[in-house]
Amino acid sequence: MNILILGPQGSGKGTQGKLIAQKFGFTYLSSGDMIRAMAKTHHNIEEMMDKGQLIPDEVSLELTTDYLETNKHFDNIVLDGTPRTTAQYHKMKEWFHTKGTSIDLGLVLTISREESIKRLSGRRMDPTTGAIYNLVTSPKPPAGVDVLHLLHRDDDKPEAINRRLDIYESSTLPLIEEMRKDGILVEVNGERTIEEIQTELVEIVKERQLNPKSQ
Ligand code: AP5
Ligand code: MG
Repeated sequence: MNILILGPQGSGKGTQGKLIAQKFGFTYLSSGDMIRAMAKTHHNIEEMMDKGQLIPDEVSLELTTDYLETNKHFDNIVLDGTPRTTAQYHKMKEWFHTKGTSIDLGLVLTISREESIKRLSGRRMDPTTGAIYNLVTSPKPPAGVDVLHLLHRDDDKPEAINRRLDIYESSTLPLIEEMRKDGILVEVNGERTIEEIQTELVEIVKERQLNPKSQ
């Protein structure tokens, strides 16, 4: 079973996606992380990301499918971030079809714009471990971690956050409607504790494993 996790910026896709992958022994794949790695050597990509724009569909699709192809991962994947436009969704559906698998479940974490801005303004990453903390919400950096050494993403500054949220509404909401028509969509209230949301997501995944949706 392949799961696509979606939601506005800061809704907890990374936080919840990693926990789901751990719980079920799935592969977790974040297009944002892959694109951030690529941006270190591609200045044009870095510029687009820092401004909060999407990078071209072909580039994000190729990064994802090349990685999956190289690692021979075609099933039991948690996809965080790709597809995020209808064009990407159609291409990924076709690609999985050629591998004899499919996108079986779309989980959407819903949160308000105010909550997105609050969470992203407080998000920090440990440059050594990659752990994600939040200075405003949770999890807070543990005692002993020097907050001044934690990284604040360039696209987590107010102007870029608002642009990313506008793009989410114009480019990703139509894809969510397509997934609804495909009968694979489940929306979850993302404005609760990390643990409460995870408990609900685990139940949804178990239920879908027991009752796969035929497409
Ligand atoms: P990406 O890295 O995917 O960023 P995003 O979609 O903007 O999502 P975020 O990572 O900001 O939020 P999240 O939902 O993962 O939240 P998190 O769990 O960290 O993409 C970045 C960029 O890459 C894009 O803008 C684009 O340029 C490019 N890109 C990526 N994919 C692309 C594609 N397919 N096509 C084209 N371009 C693409 O949580 C946020 C914070 O809140 C954390 O600090 C966390 O600790 C905290 N938190 C989490 N859950 C809770 C909770 N329940 N309560 C309180 N705080 C919480
Ligand atoms: Mg993320």
